[in-house]
Amino acid sequence: VTALKGQYPHFMLKEIHEQPEAITDTIWSLATLDPPALYFDDLGSAGDRLAAVERVVLLGMGTSLHAAMIGQRYIEAFAGLPAAADNASEFRYRDPVLDDRTLVISVSQSGETVDVLEAMAVARRAGALQVTVCNTEGAQTTRVADGTVYTRAGLERGVASTKCFTTALVALYLLALRIAQAKGRLSEEALASHLHDLAQLPRAAADVLRRRDQIRKRAVALAAAQHVLFLGRGLAFPVAMEGALKLKEVSYIHAEGYAAGEMKHGPIALIEPTFPTVAIATQHALRSKMISNIEQIQARGGPVTGVITEGDAELTALCDAVITVPAVSSWLEPVAAVIPLQLLAYDVAVHRGCDVDQPRNLAKTVTVE
Ligand code: G6P
Repeated sequence: VTALKGQYPHFMLKEIHEQPEAITDTIWSLATLDPPALYFDDLGSAGDRLAAVERVVLLGMGTSLHAAMIGQRYIEAFAGLPAAADNASEFRYRDPVLDDRTLVISVSQSGETVDVLEAMAVARRAGALQVTVCNTEGAQTTRVADGTVYTRAGLERGVASTKCFTTALVALYLLALRIAQAKGRLSEEALASHLHDLAQLPRAAADVLRRRDQIRKRAVALAAAQHVLFLGRGLAFPVAMEGALKLKEVSYIHAEGYAAGEMKHGPIALIEPTFPTVAIATQHALRSKMISNIEQIQARGGPVTGVITEGDAELTALCDAVITVPAVSSWLEPVAAVIPLQLLAYDVAVHRGCDVDQPRNLAKTVTVE
């Protein structure tokens, strides 16, 4: 096992560092830049049926649900279809309104999560078209779905998912483009421009990994906290939820991810000097809204660590501490912003002496309810 971890003390850290390569492999297993084109070899019969899709439901659990929430936004924006992400364990016990013009996209790195499989069974009975985004060749979700989009993260051993999340985002981004293409909504220029943006991503991910020192410093400060609030807006809201999930999974610190606009509806009551907030403020379009949220927290004595785009002098001056990430296209900011949160959770957990790869009470794949 030590050999498999190579130079890294834990699988989680190794897998965080494998992201530039995993992202590269996932992008170029589904697309080419020259000529700009998409290749979905495992979509099977689903490929021909995408043109008739009128609505999309995305399902997942845990980290995969957070990926689904971001995928929802990609589908709305690129394909112009109504889309909603749903927790598979809730979906399976409802009577969801579905028909053969609904595309159900299940996101599951293992392809074996019981709630996802049961939700897929509900979707199948309703006649929905199904595609699964999966990291495991031949897994159960790939057998149930009409088509598969494989992520190329390689085996992930850490219970806290890292490279499977960022590669799922890449796969969902490309799948949203593929659906847009099927709906006649994607020009060649737009496809070329999206692929160009994606091509920058591995270098940006590698760049984040080189900024480890700023993250370690924040980790030492946060390791003493009992609770941490993660806030974000837009695409950064699921990133905030994922940052909170990572922290609680591996460090056992209580953490909540919230839509920053919800803050005044409850969480702000918790703010005091011993309650730190991590504000993901990379989402450019909503940056000014995040600035006012940060000011409101600070006015109540709460310390704020900002995850910001490098060169953002205003936020650097405003926040009590910052973690900077390189600029990427706004649609891909979740990938750049989540990597420091993965490292933060890892460093906090190591600082607290936790078993990072095998957190208590957790399983890598939840095959029983
Ligand atoms: C478990 C794992 C998580 C994972 C979730 C869903 O809770 O600890 O890391 O996100 O299951 O797993 P899946 O294989 O369906 O993506």
